[in-house]
Amino acid sequence: MSLTLQELAKRDDFDAQYRQGHLAVVRAVERAVCGCDYGATSWATQGEAGQIAAALELAPGVRLLEIGAGSGWPSLYLAGRSGCDLTLADLPLEGIRIAAGRAVADRLAGACLAVAADAAQLPFRDGCFDALNHSDVLCCLVRKREVLAECRRVVRPAGRMAFSVIYILPGLSAADHARAVETAPEFADMDADYPTLLAATGWAIRRRHDLTAEFRASCIRKLDAEEGLRGELEPLTGAADFDARQARMRRRIAVLEQRHMRRELFIVEPAG
Ligand SMILES: C[S@@+](CC[C@H](N)C(=O)[O-])C[C@H]1O[C@@H](n2cnc3c(N)ncnc32)[C@H](O)[C@@H]1O
Repeated sequence: MSLTLQELAKRDDFDAQYRQGHLAVVRAVERAVCGCDYGATSWATQGEAGQIAAALELAPGVRLLEIGAGSGWPSLYLAGRSGCDLTLADLPLEGIRIAAGRAVADRLAGACLAVAADAAQLPFRDGCFDALNHSDVLCCLVRKREVLAECRRVVRPAGRMAFSVIYILPGLSAADHARAVETAPEFADMDADYPTLLAATGWAIRRRHDLTAEFRASCIRKLDAEEGLRGELEPLTGAADFDARQARMRRRIAVLEQRHMRRELFIVEPAG
């Protein structure tokens, strides 16, 4: 595994988040924002999960891989509803442990495998999955091209992939760009755009859904839910950290209002 130092730090950060994800107060915020209680760290809502299930035509016998699966949202939910077989892959062991426990508790009808793996070096043979999903994963890692190429390698030729991603709009003024970067996920900024990266890694775009308005609404729900639970959340990180995070969320909402940051769901398939 060859993670960059920044990616290693991010992995440890996610590990800590998954450790806290089971707390009742954290789950209450998650239910208010995404409508689920899996310990989610993406912005995928339950409605979006429905869109993904339909786009990937999930059903019993379909082999689904979720990379950056965290503690199992949304793939465990998708597998529970569709009966598909599921492989979850991520780096933080805590998330994988929680996902594996939830898979057992939910008594999924299909097979389920949870593995610790770098999405840029997947331990699977070529073409062994029918469908892939990743939710806000590419904006949490540096090696986007390598990951998209690995996804392409492990999907069968007639397979499909759904993924959501947050990115900064190209062509902004230096000041607007800096404001957007400051409030965005750590690796949302990039040199190339997603259509270019997808084409370079053997993917053809089937559909794109602009989810920026929904993302902004989710950010507002999170801000409000956390404000309402301030008394329980503040002791977890301290008042200064809580206030700083709330202030950053307000700045993010302003950036989204200006549409300088976007969140999109891509539905793609192998090209040619
Ligand atoms: C925004 S979270 C999404 C987690 C989960 N799918 C959810 O919706 O709650 C992004 C996930 O990508 C994972 N990730 C980042 N870099 C990765 C890599 N190189 N290989 C595998 N997973 C990675 C992180 O560990 C994190 O769990």
